[in-house]
Amino acid sequence: MDKLIVEGKNILSGTVSVSGAKNAVLPMLCASVMISDGLVIIKNIPHLNDVTTTTSLLAKMGMTITMDESMNIQLDSSTINNTFAPYELVKTMRSSILVLGPLLAKHGNAKVSLPGGCAIGTRPVNLHIEALRKMGAKLDIFNGYIHAKCKKLQGVTIEFPQISVTGTENILMAGCLADGITTIRNAAREPEVVDLCNFLNKMGAKISGQGTETIIIEGVEKLKGASYTALPDRIETGTFLIAAAITGGKILIKDTISSHVAIILEKLKEAGAYIKTTESTIELDMKKKRPTPVNITTGPYPMFPTDMQAQMTALNSIAKGKSEVLENVFENRFMHVQEMNRMGAQIEVKENCASIVGQDTLKGAPVMATDLRASASLILAGLAAEGVTEVGRIYHIDRGYDCIEEKLKQLGAKITREPM
Ligand code: UD1
Repeated sequence: MDKLIVEGKNILSGTVSVSGAKNAVLPMLCASVMISDGLVIIKNIPHLNDVTTTTSLLAKMGMTITMDESMNIQLDSSTINNTFAPYELVKTMRSSILVLGPLLAKHGNAKVSLPGGCAIGTRPVNLHIEALRKMGAKLDIFNGYIHAKCKKLQGVTIEFPQISVTGTENILMAGCLADGITTIRNAAREPEVVDLCNFLNKMGAKISGQGTETIIIEGVEKLKGASYTALPDRIETGTFLIAAAITGGKILIKDTISSHVAIILEKLKEAGAYIKTTESTIELDMKKKRPTPVNITTGPYPMFPTDMQAQMTALNSIAKGKSEVLENVFENRFMHVQEMNRMGAQIEVKENCASIVGQDTLKGAPVMATDLRASASLILAGLAAEGVTEVGRIYHIDRGYDCIEEKLKQLGAKITREPM
């Protein structure tokens, strides 16, 4: 197992390009099992362990997958010969549940392992299961697996009691091949959900309303192959913006979509950053200043993303004053706090609220990553700290950040990877 060694107090500057969005690419890969004719080509694929896990899962089902040197993935679903998603693969990545809707819709059966526990909360899949039952599928849970079958899924109206990103995605994918019209109310509005719908429409689906609270899917007989470029990762964008802000630096981010990070930019301006945007670039200049503290409350898009909460907590930990971070999406997403406190941060968590007293500086220490975004926040804290920070268990970061240390090095960070 590797660790990352970060030598802090280097002001970041330069230009960095953002990779394709993990949370758009994963559902697209899963949706590809529904194709009847032709090949699917997905471009702008990020180099991530979660992508490898998903392609391994699909390959185990018999799908033929090839990748070219530009990391474009080509998928041929005509060779699929089983609909089994085993525990060994699903346990490492909760989003594997995204194969359930597509497999049921196309093949009428699936055996998918329950994702199990997760460091950031219980994260059940009850909403996915209830909605698929409403569409006429029979789902039984035993021995840790969801055993699902159906004749043909039926279009119905699903009103989610709570917004779920992958829940919305599973049902909208299932609706593509269902009989009649599926209406999803209280749907997730994340840009990745919109991108998935645009991808499916390119393959012949009839989806409208994506990006609003109501998505309408008119079932079609079959879907055909298509070529599609996934959108840039807004969480990677936000993480680099905070990396620059936390070191007082100045960076230019390319190949992004600035409107997708509007709330993050608003908060960074509040923190004292000067920001200039075009549609696809963001320039941030912190002018070597210490950040002003900002309060945040996480929520579904377009609110502040929970996937940026840990990084923003790191920024607040060195801000000039007090702030509060309210986590409203996942109940246990403050695992990074005790590690930051070991670096000299002063953060107290009560239920879903972290109260932060900003410190002049943090001190480097050995710390342990507990989940994907927590590990990013510890790297950010290390960039701001005096001395050396060793971030352990970085397999988490490799699940979701494409070449993070190379990109940070390019911006002047002193960061290296070493075996533990
Ligand atoms: C997705 C993202 C993840 C992000 C999260 C919230 C992917 C692959 N992952 O995760 O990076 O942090 O959205 O933006 O896109 N819930 C239930 N029952 C369910 C489903 C969800 O109670 O059946 C709850 C969850 O426990 C959580 C909330 O709903 O409290 C939102 O979770 P959800 O939007 O489903 O997160 P994911 O789709 O798993």
